[in-house]
Amino acid sequence: LQQILFKNPNEPPVVFHWFPVIGSTITYGMDPPRFFKENRAKFGDIFTFILLGKKTTVYLGTTGNDFVLNGKHKDVCAEDIYGVLTTPVFGKDVVYDCPNSKLMEQKKFMKVALTTTAFQSYVPIIADEVSSYVKRCPDFKGKSGIVNIPKNMAEITIFTASHSLQGSEIRSKFDESLAALYHDLDMGFTPVNFMLHWAPLPWNKKRDHAQRTIAKVYMDTIKERRAAGKSDAQDMMWHLMSATYKNNVPVPDHEIAHMLIALLMAGQHSSSSTSSWMMLRLASRPDIMEALYREQVEALGADLPALTYEDLAKLPLNQAIVKETLRLHAPIHSIMRAVKSPMPVSGTKYVIPTSHTLLSAAGVTATDPAYFPEPDLWEPTRWNKDSPLAPSLARNEAEEEEKIDYGYGLVSKGGHSPYLPFGAGRHRCIGEQFANVQLQTINAMIVRMFKFRNVDGSDKVIATDYASLFSRPIEPANIYWEKRDW
Ligand code: HEM
Repeated sequence: LQQILFKNPNEPPVVFHWFPVIGSTITYGMDPPRFFKENRAKFGDIFTFILLGKKTTVYLGTTGNDFVLNGKHKDVCAEDIYGVLTTPVFGKDVVYDCPNSKLMEQKKFMKVALTTTAFQSYVPIIADEVSSYVKRCPDFKGKSGIVNIPKNMAEITIFTASHSLQGSEIRSKFDESLAALYHDLDMGFTPVNFMLHWAPLPWNKKRDHAQRTIAKVYMDTIKERRAAGKSDAQDMMWHLMSATYKNNVPVPDHEIAHMLIALLMAGQHSSSSTSSWMMLRLASRPDIMEALYREQVEALGADLPALTYEDLAKLPLNQAIVKETLRLHAPIHSIMRAVKSPMPVSGTKYVIPTSHTLLSAAGVTATDPAYFPEPDLWEPTRWNKDSPLAPSLARNEAEEEEKIDYGYGLVSKGGHSPYLPFGAGRHRCIGEQFANVQLQTINAMIVRMFKFRNVDGSDKVIATDYASLFSRPIEPANIYWEKRDW
């Protein structure tokens, strides 16, 4: 009754809930996409729900995606939401622990480092990491077997990313201490830390110790590199070591270290979840895995020579695996912003007040039949323009052409796209190209080595675990593997 009587006509409808602070936290948390779709059916694209006592306004649809993600910095703010969680994990003075204009400069440094020359050097590194991992991993001993694949994909992701982005010295330290330290650091990313980030709890103590120790490893390596003189390696550490802010101040060593942590953490969860889904989807569609193998044989030759960056462009189905997997399994299901000034929603009577948080869920448009025929079907060939399942993305393509600079280089405006696994606007991902190179290389190498299928031979797919910040497959997520050449 209270919810009906005190309804403000200038605010979006509120999802019904029994308890004031808990609100819809549990129904949302169990399955966010289902929660969004059910409430869209009741209220339309814009509605409010209570998330841990906070009024959270969801704006779905392509207009909603753009409203939140391309919101002006004076209106919407990411650092007020994410800073409490990320600052103890990444460290001071980077990302959300600095003014947004500084983050834009930091993103520019990171983006500029990810050049074609860098990618050309990364593909052989990533390919070698994948094959040597498979050779030494006890889970893949023998001719065939069953494996809980997310664990292996998490390891492959961190070895490939640390080696290519952070260099061989850092990669070698992952076999010793860094893997365990990153595991401790990761505990800072548990959702309960949105509230308990400050508390002297055992996992926060481990997080703080890990952050300090990892940052020191990077800072020591930077000093050693300076002492040894310039190298022609293309990793991110070298690049950041020569980067200078607009006010002519070189990036201090502790900021380089903290940016390297931020990059590895940002990429790790998203890429490791995506690569696990790719493997699980291949296991559910052995026909596609076979088509991928044939694609490589036809495009690169039957002897399958060492993979290069240029080869990736010759493998459209391999590229589409990443694209289609991100359509159905984008690891970031909710993007949130604090509202800094009242925001009128054009075409409605609503004004979103500063007491609300805004939430964008672009995964909802990515599974909307209005844009993607048979949206729940994982069908990588739909990205072929002639496919009957090809998406209708006319406006998306027009916006792709339109470029904008938020301070980290020109990016396509693209906020109205129904397909935004890498976000849009000033906080858009700068790791998109790296992730594509990494995921396509991993996929191509796995396809060369294995045939997969579901353990029971069916085409069913594992359910999603939404309990952590990034969605991922529920474990155990077992697949049956068989080596191609034995
Ligand atoms: C931002 C997705 C991989 C670095 C983002 C955002 C999304 C995203 C949706 C926007 C977040 C927001 O608006 O609040 C993904 C996906 C990935 C991936 C799906 C892999 C499949 C990577 C990798 C790196 C990276 C590999 C680093 C090399 C970043 C950075 C930001 C970002 C620095 C900017 C954060 C900001 O400006 O607030 N990513 N990402 N990401 N991502 Fe990624």
